[in-house]
Amino acid sequence: LAAGPLEGKRIVVTSGPTHEPIDPVRYIANRSSGAQGTAIAEALRDLGAEVVFVTGPATAPRPQGVQVIEVESARDMRAAVMGALPAAAAVFAAAVADWRVTSESGSKIKKQDGRLPVLEFAENPDILREVAHLQDGRPGLVVGFAAETDDVEANAVAKRARKGCDWIVANDVSPETGIMGGTENAVLLVTGDGVEPWPRAGKDVVARRLAERMADALSKG
Ligand code: C5P
Repeated sequence: LAAGPLEGKRIVVTSGPTHEPIDPVRYIANRSSGAQGTAIAEALRDLGAEVVFVTGPATAPRPQGVQVIEVESARDMRAAVMGALPAAAAVFAAAVADWRVTSESGSKIKKQDGRLPVLEFAENPDILREVAHLQDGRPGLVVGFAAETDDVEANAVAKRARKGCDWIVANDVSPETGIMGGTENAVLLVTGDGVEPWPRAGKDVVARRLAERMADALSKG
């Protein structure tokens, strides 16, 4: 059997939502299923990569034949990603919560007559941005995602610059597209060379196309 084009290459993939605890029984989350991240991990594995799959509490079944690291919060995810480096490439498909609750309570918050709890927030670490800006040990190819509901292309181009990543895979997650939580995706690939719209297809097909593009880019150094 011929070796896959990604044989011997370690690739970190983040996936799923994060859960940001409010108290021991409550959390803030989002609707990411982890389906696209899982499909990408599988596609990279099928091309021979040594995949480290860092996932939040996603509903999608975990990919087989890869190293799976289960995390809960954005801060856990950051620590797992940093611990998984160095890597040839990293794909940030996770829907990381932008904020965590700083007022997290060690015990369950009680309902009190007429008094409502007030939650305080802080910004979570931006894992993609941090990895893309590493002076030492930056992966050779850093791929981010942009889930947008408006001005997808302009926002994705701006996001690529702001995050410092090599590519952005952008998609429209407006509810009427059925993409978030669905089986299909329609993405724009934003690279240093421009913007390519890819046809709407199964998340597995999009994943295979991305994995092949990554193999291509990594083989060119
Ligand atoms: O800024 P925004 O959340 O729209 O950026 C999305 C991209 O950044 C995704 O690739 C996501 O995985 C990554 N991200 C991250 N850490 C965060 C927020 C987003 O890695 N705290």
